Amino acid sequence: MKVMVIGSGGREHALVWKLKQSRKVDKIFCAPGNAGIAQIARCVNIQVERTRDLAAFAQRNKIQLTVVGPEVPLARGIVDEFKKKKLKIFGPDKKGAQLESSKIFSKEFMRKYNIPTVSFRIFSSAGEAIGFCKSVEFPVVVKADGLAAGKGVIIVKDLKEATEAIENIMVKAVFGKAGNRILIESFIKGQELSIMALTDGKTIIPMLPSQDHKTAYDGDKGPNTGGMGAYCPTDIATPEILKKIQEYVLEPTLKGLIKEGITYKGVIYAGLMLTADGPKVLEYNCRFGDPETQVILPLLRSDLCELMLSISNQKLESFGKLQWHKDYAACVVMASKGYPGNYQRGVRINGLPKKEENGCVVFHSGTSKNGDQWLTAGGRVLGVTGRNRDLKSALKNAYNMVNKIKFDGAQYRRDIGFRILRNNEREQ
Ligand code: GLY
Repeated sequence: MKVMVIGSGGREHALVWKLKQSRKVDKIFCAPGNAGIAQIARCVNIQVERTRDLAAFAQRNKIQLTVVGPEVPLARGIVDEFKKKKLKIFGPDKKGAQLESSKIFSKEFMRKYNIPTVSFRIFSSAGEAIGFCKSVEFPVVVKADGLAAGKGVIIVKDLKEATEAIENIMVKAVFGKAGNRILIESFIKGQELSIMALTDGKTIIPMLPSQDHKTAYDGDKGPNTGGMGAYCPTDIATPEILKKIQEYVLEPTLKGLIKEGITYKGVIYAGLMLTADGPKVLEYNCRFGDPETQVILPLLRSDLCELMLSISNQKLESFGKLQWHKDYAACVVMASKGYPGNYQRGVRINGLPKKEENGCVVFHSGTSKNGDQWLTAGGRVLGVTGRNRDLKSALKNAYNMVNKIKFDGAQYRRDIGFRILRNNEREQ
């Protein structure tokens, strides 16, 4: 069958790579894709926001399954658009995507359905929000309600920083309408855990637990980024913790969606904080995580296309248990100099492997090609995923490959997995 993946990053490269292994798939398209993806799929020059054009393309080309990577087309209603044309698509409709596209919707949803989360207040006036901050204990987290390309969550440590963040979001409108309303949330410390769960609107099944590193520099320091690395599974997610997540987060989330009249088909990504009181949801995403997908899919043995079709047909329950390789995977993101600030594009990349080697697969996030020469074309450039029987060896494979790939100013973290490795050492 013909399938199409929508998006252009490392997550989409991993989705295309895994779908291509399916016995069901004959041909893969990716819109718009990137130069790395173009090695294994036909890239189509339609941007992710053009939901109608994407549906028309799928119809014209008889695409039998479309898989949506990023949140923006989901929030714009790409699934509703495809449904109108009776085209199969993997992802939630516009109502379901509100779990990510409106932080206020998702917090009110959690409150209504008793899903453990962090305490919060909602504001639609900058003056009231600043007034409230005069009486809080810092730090607190200021969050724009709508989508803000990962930049709408700001941890502030005093009233001055809070005022600046609130004014930027609500008065200067740096994120446009996404900042018409904000949330102010208590700040909690601890280990974060990513759980991506698959649901067909009737059954919900978690994938392996993973952790990502959001900040730019070693030691979890520096500015927040789209993600500098990830690993999977993570031993911090003990069977007891996973049971609690299923019971107190995933099942109530599905029940709540059903009560709201939302038939959610796709991935629900719960970003969780592990606290002494149990796991708490920091946020939901309505899509696969990036870079988490780059470590989860290499471990999935089940056929991804069959799995997605069973979700689309609301037959997830009869799909059976997900099958996993009993390995670990670790991804190191190589970024351009200056990322997440300004960076240069078009820098030559050398040393990219021609094929998968030494337990490593390289997913492209932002590359282009000039003849045979690979060039950088984004902030995050490559995700280098190593696989092995334990996390340390998986990381070793990934870093061996990272050391062979060269481009001027390449910036990457040298400590992916450090918290869990330190934990494991303490326990030994
Ligand atoms: N890794 C975080 C995200 O995908 O939003």
